[in-house]
Amino acid sequence: MTDRTIKIAVSILAADFARFGEECAAMEAAGADWIHVDVMDGHFVSNLTFGSALCAAVRPHIRGVMDVHMMIAPVDPHIDAFARAGATNMTVHVEAGSHAHRTLQAIKAAGCRAGVAINPGTGIEALRWLIDSVDVVCVLTVNPGFSGQKMLPGMVDKVRAIRGMTGDRPVAIEVDGGVSVENAAALVAAGADVLVAGAALFKGGAAAYAANIRALREAALA
Ligand code: DX5
Ligand code: ZN
Repeated sequence: MTDRTIKIAVSILAADFARFGEECAAMEAAGADWIHVDVMDGHFVSNLTFGSALCAAVRPHIRGVMDVHMMIAPVDPHIDAFARAGATNMTVHVEAGSHAHRTLQAIKAAGCRAGVAINPGTGIEALRWLIDSVDVVCVLTVNPGFSGQKMLPGMVDKVRAIRGMTGDRPVAIEVDGGVSVENAAALVAAGADVLVAGAALFKGGAAAYAANIRALREAALA
């Protein structure tokens, strides 16, 4: 049966970079469903962030899902290393190479759940022949690279169109970028079931994490 309960995925791109392990544990204790790790290579996107060694180091501090968002090209040579590092989900961009389908097969062969991500400017027809091979579709609601951006207009309609495409398939729709209490309800009503958020959840420091997660979940269900 398809699990359409709303999940909150915390993007550690907005964490204190000197304390990733503690930040992941604190966010899970505060109610986070997934920990989202934004892997960037300074090439596919301009920012440069984490590698598989960091994923392996934080994995013992995460009890549940480690959701790895690969913003790198090429991605195939790195799949096994991130799988060994403990990725539960591995999500790759259709824009990152010519063989997304083969990459998704490799992710599954490595023992992870496979996700496909599309940038704001990419049309949903790019998903048409991949949709039967994925567990997650990640809709970038900002241009990827940085935390703290505002969600782009039109993305709610895009999510609705993708949910129309997934139909009854057991595919989670994840929205990523600028997700907040202001737009969560519209995104969920359009068909999103995983809300990735960084800035909205880390604001106010550790004392505020539980309240921030609760507020986003309540807004999503409103
Ligand atoms: C954007 C990343 C997102 C981002 C989310 O490149 O993929 O995961 O960090 O952070 P906020 O919620 O701050 O936009
Ligand atoms: Zn992300």
